[in-house]
Amino acid sequence: MRVTVTRFSLARSHRPVFRRPSTPTIRALSTSLAHHLNNTAVMSTAWKPVFPFAQRLNDGRALALDVWTIFSAANLPPDCINLGQGYMNFPPPSWTREAAEEALRSVEGNHYSPTRGRVRLRKAIKEFYGTQFGKELDPDTEIVVTSGANEGQYAAFTAFIEPGDEVIIFEPFFDQYLPSIAFQGGKCVYVPLHPSPEPAPNVKTGKRSWTIDFDELRRAVTPKTKMIVLNTPHNPVGKVFTRAELEKIAQIAEEHNLIVMSDEVYERLVFDGQEHVRIATLPGMWDRTITVGSAGKLFAATGWRIGWLIGPPSLIGPTTAATIRIVFSSNTPMQEAVAAGFEQARERGFFEQQLKEYEERRQVLIDTFEKLGLEYTWPEGSYFILLNISRLRWPENYAFPATLEGRGRDFKAAWFIANEIGVSSIPVSEFYCEEHVNIGENYARFAFCKDLDTLRRAGNRLQRLREYIV
Ligand SMILES: Cc1ncc(COP(=O)(O)O)c(C=O)c1O
Repeated sequence: MRVTVTRFSLARSHRPVFRRPSTPTIRALSTSLAHHLNNTAVMSTAWKPVFPFAQRLNDGRALALDVWTIFSAANLPPDCINLGQGYMNFPPPSWTREAAEEALRSVEGNHYSPTRGRVRLRKAIKEFYGTQFGKELDPDTEIVVTSGANEGQYAAFTAFIEPGDEVIIFEPFFDQYLPSIAFQGGKCVYVPLHPSPEPAPNVKTGKRSWTIDFDELRRAVTPKTKMIVLNTPHNPVGKVFTRAELEKIAQIAEEHNLIVMSDEVYERLVFDGQEHVRIATLPGMWDRTITVGSAGKLFAATGWRIGWLIGPPSLIGPTTAATIRIVFSSNTPMQEAVAAGFEQARERGFFEQQLKEYEERRQVLIDTFEKLGLEYTWPEGSYFILLNISRLRWPENYAFPATLEGRGRDFKAAWFIANEIGVSSIPVSEFYCEEHVNIGENYARFAFCKDLDTLRRAGNRLQRLREYIV
């Protein structure tokens, strides 16, 4: 049960926001804030379990107070700039919205769609991808439309993961993987990405690359391993996996007969002329790979909840059977909007223009962190930058809410930055298993899927972090 803390937001609305208050004021405000958040924590778990709930909720961390709730706008100061959750503060292209409106004006556009996705959309996906998968796609057997990438991934886990099966995921990982696997009785096996010990020499501060220790990956494979989940471009690290890395992963998948789920929702956000390699196109990999896409990321439409999976009939067939039982069919007018998006994107130069805009947005945050002198992770792709917050020090007596107790140091850093600097971010240890929290707790994730003005204002505010750097 999720409870919004309206009382807290009201109480905070009197505060002169982001003029630096005196230390006693900070303490008083923080205490009152802590009080309110404690209530939230209690409220969100205060219900009595009259009926025993399924263990899978615990196994999937589903009952834990999640990072999105702790750092939701309702719990932060009213004019805090949100660079936390990865959704855009600008709309999807107008021509896609017009297609949705047109669908809503028709009768058909308000009713069930074919369970595997609207014919128009599957055809548009097939045509858009052309031969990017090394072959023409069959829209009837090799593409399924889902309710966002999330649901598609859930359906694929449902189709293939038996209780006790192991699924390898790279850390930090998109947080939904864990519950989606745990709900099937599957077991996540974590392989951390490692930040290179030294920043690259050609930049003042940042640019660490994150790498896989392939011995570690090999050791993670057991007779119970069924699947590897891959995410390139990567959330939150911004890594774009190289062809050489993907070839090594492919080799391991082939050797051990594993399915690969390749989450490529940021496929159109690859910077600096780097190559987005689809593991499905490596020799022998088409037959064992499910590739995941999302209209939310492609068309700045995270609320439409439309995604798709691409793969061979042997993987898409069972997944389709699962998705039909999970959602039956996906949102009809928004499928029409996405179809229009794919149909017109090329001729309008939409993705090229969008990439340019994201490059500008990325630059604002890079300049911000360079000026600040803190290390950050260079985003080769996706729309996130990790700021290394290990040199930040806040006042010793700063009162943090009890909801942060037992969490990584990054939770405190992100909380402090949101409340005292006025810019929200997401603590990265949330994307790690408990044993590896120490890697993640050095970082806070900032999203640059926001307009330039917002990013510049955030950048100006963030300069005030200087006071707290040691
Ligand atoms: C890596 C990754 N995969 C999947 C998703 C989910 O995409 P969708 O909104 O289409 O469900 C996200 C969303 O943030 C993501 O970052």
